[in-house]
Formats: sequence, C-alpha cells, structure tokens
Amino acid sequence: MTLTNRQWLLKRRPQGALAEGDFELREIEMPETEPAAGEILVRYVAFLCAPTMRNWMDAPGNSLYPSVPLGEPVLAPAVGRVVASGDPKFPVGSRVFTLGSWQDYALINTTGFLPVSPLAEGVSFIDSLGRYGLNPLTGYFGLLEVGQAQSGQTLVVSGAAGSTGSTAAQIGRIKGMRVIGIAGGAAKCAWLTEQCGIDAAIDYKTENVEERLAALCPKGIDVYYDNVGGDILQAAVNNMANGGRIVLCGQISSYETEEQAEGPRNMMRLIYGSITMQGFLCSNYAAQFGQAIADLRIWMDAGELHYREDVRGGFEQLPDIFSALFDGSNNGTLIAMIDDSAHETA
Ligand SMILES: NC(=O)c1ccc[n+]([C@@H]2O[C@H](COP(=O)([O-])OP(=O)(O)OC[C@H]3O[C@@H](n4cnc5c(N)ncnc54)[C@H](OP(=O)(O)O)[C@@H]3O)[C@@H](O)[C@H]2O)c1
Repeated sequence: MTLTNRQWLLKRRPQGALAEGDFELREIEMPETEPAAGEILVRYVAFLCAPTMRNWMDAPGNSLYPSVPLGEPVLAPAVGRVVASGDPKFPVGSRVFTLGSWQDYALINTTGFLPVSPLAEGVSFIDSLGRYGLNPLTGYFGLLEVGQAQSGQTLVVSGAAGSTGSTAAQIGRIKGMRVIGIAGGAAKCAWLTEQCGIDAAIDYKTENVEERLAALCPKGIDVYYDNVGGDILQAAVNNMANGGRIVLCGQISSYETEEQAEGPRNMMRLIYGSITMQGFLCSNYAAQFGQAIADLRIWMDAGELHYREDVRGGFEQLPDIFSALFDGSNNGTLIAMIDDSAHETA
C-alpha cells in the first residue's frame, strides 16, 4: 500500500517578500510502513500560519527553530489525526497538535524537537489552533505575566488588530487598563475601537505614530506590547513612562529581510526611567495553559473578548495563504485548512 502525499518544499531561501519560485509543489507516493516505537504517522488537516515561520525559511541563524533545509517541506504548527501508531499514548484515530510540515502525511517522533500533544476532547482541530491556540495564549501570558497588567495604567499594543495583539489589547481592557492599539488601515482601527472597546487606535500607515502616542499618552506608556519592532518600537520607547514595561513578543516588520532587526536607540531612556524590556515565548508558560484556556473561554463566551479568525482552504494555496500575514490582509488568526475534517471535535 502507498499513500499519495502532496508536499510544499522550500526550493530556495526567500529574499525579502515571498515569491512564487521560493516553493515547489510535488506529489509523491509514500510507502505505508508501520511506525517504529515512539513514532506516529499523522494525516494533517490544518496548519497555523505563524509569522515566525518566515524566519525558519532563512539560513540557520538566530531563530529558535531549525532552519528548514532546502528541498524539504516547510515547517508549520499543525493539527492532524494519527493514521498509524508506534506510541500507545497516541493510538490510531487520536487527534494531535505538533510542529508539522506542509504535507498531507508525515512520520514523526512523538518526543521530537516539539513534543506531540493530544487535542482536548470536544474542541475542534480549528479551535485548537485558533481560539484556544498559541496566539491567544501568547497575548494572555505576554500581557499578564510579562507586562504585569495593572488597572488604571496605559497599555499600547502594536499589531493590535491581529491574532495575538487583539487578545493582549482586550485583556488589557478587561483588566481595567486604558488601551491604545496600533494597526494598519481604517477598517482594522475601527474594529478595535467599535467592536473591541479599545480606547483609541492609531493607523500606522497614515499617521505619525510617535506624535500620536505623545498626544494620546501625556503621562507616558506604562506597558508597551510589541509585535512589530523597528520604527514603531522606537516610537514607543520614546514615549515610555517611568517604571514602564516593554513586552517583546515579535518583530514582524523585519521578518522579510535578511538582516537582523535593528534594536531601538535611546537606551538611556530605559535607564533614566527604570524601564524593563523583556522578551518571552508562549511555551515558557506551558504548565499554565489549562488555566489560561479556561479564562479565555469565559471571556469569549461572555462576549468580552472578541476573537476573529481567517480560515482559508486549499493545499495548493498554502504559500499564498501564508503571505497574507505580511501584507496585512489577514483578519485574525490565519489558518490554512487542507481537509474538511478540521471542524471535527472528536
Ligand atoms: N513570542 C511568542 O511566543 C509569539 C507567539 C505567537 C506570535 N508571536 C508574534 O506575534 C506577532 C503577531 O503574530 P500573529 O500570528 O498574531 O499574526 P497577526 O498579528 O494576526 O498577523 C500579522 C499582522 O502583522 C501586521 N504586519 C505585517 N507586516 C507588518 C509591518 N511591516 N509593520 C507593521 N505591522 C505589520 C499586519 O497587520 P496590519 O494590517 O496591522 O499591518 C498583519 O495582519 C508576530 O510578531 C509573531 O511573531 C510571538
């Protein structure tokens, strides 16, 4: 028996914005061998489009994850169903989350670089990647644990209309903070103020961010949650309040360049203002995911935390779908679904 396996391979290292020739679609016949002990054969049903995957496409550098070897399928957080198993913890038919790759099937080690985890009963594949997945959890821990959110303080979030940013911004509002979001375009800014109840929004594509921050935060920014880096991070540094906290979550403005992101200037501001700047990874808080998901569920069910997701279909379209993160055309958590069973909850 063989399985027909479609794969998107990384053909060359992207230079700047992703281009069609960076990837190659191929179809292979894969022998259906029994997995060895500790291995499972997974049929993927959906992939999370995570901006940092673009860093994994670069040559080995300072990314946490291994650089995708040329000629190999593109790495992506994935959910799927076990179709053959050499690990009793993941029997045939069980549903799993893993660091996967852009292909239909993969034989993976269950204790590999990122261990495989089971999906919660009753939660669909899509919700495991989206609503209760890595991005909302990142916004939750980034704001509450790293940012030390405090009622009455001023929070500024960049990438605020996105998956991670909109969670951080709204949890700030729920915790009694005054919240200002920075996003690209009038529609995203209107969604933040009108739907999400954020106090003000700055359209970084048409407005001077530094001047607007100075006008909106006359006493300075207490917590700045940064998804973007570059000039926007600099504008925030220049407007921080004494004792402020800068949460470094991501640097998406530099992911499509070969160069490492530039750091902000004016570090004396941090010294004089006793300001902390801390990076973090969502996975640092894995032991607390259960409590965080319970809190997110309560806020979402009560209509206090608005969640948007952008689920797009089609294996053939995977590179195009992923590119939406970088032109800002995604509205919420971007998920590529490659099989209709992705809505199944068991
Ligand atoms: N530390 C962690 O553990 C962790 C975990 C997950 C995600 N992250 C980081 O969180 C950030 C958001 O990720 P996400 O998955 O939630 O994606 P997202 O915010 O839903 O989508 C990406 C958004 O980034 C904005 N963007 C793209 N290029 C930009 C640029 N050059 N300048 C300013 N904004 C730009 C676009 O929104 P606009 O239309 O507003 O431009 C786009 O919609 C990323 O930096 C990611 O690496 C970190």
